[in-house]
Amino acid sequence: MASLTVRQLDERLKTLLRLRAARNGRSMEDEIRSILREAADAAGEDILERFEPAATPARAAAVPANTAMPRVLLIIGGGIAAYKSLDLIRRLKERGCAVRCVLTQAATQFVTPLAASALTGGRVYTELFNPEHEFDVGHIRLARETDLVVVAPATADLMAKMAQGHANDLATAVLLATNAKILLAPAMNPAMWANKATQRNLKQLKADGVALVGPNAGEMAERGERGVGRMAEPLEIAGAVERLMKIAAAPQPLKGKRILVTAGPTHEPIDPVRYIANRSSGKQGYAIAAAAAEAGADVVLISGPVNLPKPENVDFIDVESARDMLAAVEKALPADVAIFAAAVADWRVANAGEQKIKKQPGKATPQLALAENPDILSTIAHRRSDRPPLVIGFAAETENVIANAKAKLARKGCDWILANDVSPSTGIMGGDSNTIHLVTAAGVDDWPPQSKEQAAAMLISRIAATLTGDRN
Ligand code: C5P
Repeated sequence: MASLTVRQLDERLKTLLRLRAARNGRSMEDEIRSILREAADAAGEDILERFEPAATPARAAAVPANTAMPRVLLIIGGGIAAYKSLDLIRRLKERGCAVRCVLTQAATQFVTPLAASALTGGRVYTELFNPEHEFDVGHIRLARETDLVVVAPATADLMAKMAQGHANDLATAVLLATNAKILLAPAMNPAMWANKATQRNLKQLKADGVALVGPNAGEMAERGERGVGRMAEPLEIAGAVERLMKIAAAPQPLKGKRILVTAGPTHEPIDPVRYIANRSSGKQGYAIAAAAAEAGADVVLISGPVNLPKPENVDFIDVESARDMLAAVEKALPADVAIFAAAVADWRVANAGEQKIKKQPGKATPQLALAENPDILSTIAHRRSDRPPLVIGFAAETENVIANAKAKLARKGCDWILANDVSPSTGIMGGDSNTIHLVTAAGVDDWPPQSKEQAAAMLISRIAATLTGDRN
């Protein structure tokens, strides 16, 4: 009904209507409804009963105007990961988002507009110069009528175009025209991701304020290919959307606080090509650094070698050995809080070879002599100057978790210990979830089993409450 009405209006009225709709951030049809509603109110009768169709038009259902529903514009790029974006639509809708969808031409090779349309419950936009779309929505309105633009998968080509400010198709025109925050979920072959051109574009996009989720490391669609380049999973992207949406409104309880985090394993060289390592993935420390940055803290993340994307908005220092890590931590002081999540190697090889140690047939196998590494947590907790007011360590135990953690709290001189059971059956080491017991001088708090991101959020809110004096 509404589009027929629009088409039958004369040009002057259409222009006035378009202007009024743009000013109010509504579609032209919604503007007509609003005018009718105003007229009905003025007339004192519910005129809309007579004009509204029985079923709400699909397009209006897709992005309701003037509601508190967060509006997400999902741009699906042309990559094999596009199929996951269909699931992402569902995940976003589960979270109460109104989702509109733009498909690049390349994306239509992987998923159909019909499938995306069925999931969003609205029209899917594919062309820059589609007179029908331009007439009632248009790329500028697509760009404006949203709280967040998510690009998933963000291909190398889309990222290059964004970094350069191209606008030669609907997706890039919308990305250039939007004032909303942009979240990219890159997905590409690891060689393309590692390519200097992509890394240059990435740097530019980050400098432009674009947010990122992933890419993750793992198997690629191409047989036998592994590496960094897999698109983040729909749930991870939905989580990033949730966090970004909250960022705009949420208070930042750690603003002005400097938080130092260590993460990952350390590598202790045996010779120039070999090293001793452990199974730490770095996931918990990275999640803590990300949660602290989201809470507004100034974060420095000192990381051993891991296969994870760097969290956004943190100062990142990568190190190899325990001694490098200690030096980097000391250099990064002072801090308000120091969180030692790294699985630092207890020993290094005292007689590491300067050259590659050779097999020598007939001779005895080389013997590695071990020397104890500095205990970074204990060193910092016992400092006289620049000791962070809150020093937090981890205790990864395989037995007597609480008793060992209490002993460690006293021995290391730290304020809190996050203790967890890392026996192989728990799957915690390298896994995605964690069951933590917070051990402080005041007692033990048992946290529920949860994802490492949730555990990180819980720790950060506990820290914020402590620093602001709500709790200790
Ligand atoms: O003694 P243990 O390795 O169980 O202690 C674990 C805690 O101590 C973790 O917080 C870890 O980051 C920290 N640690 C350290 N330097 C070491 C060994 C452990 O900072 N050399």
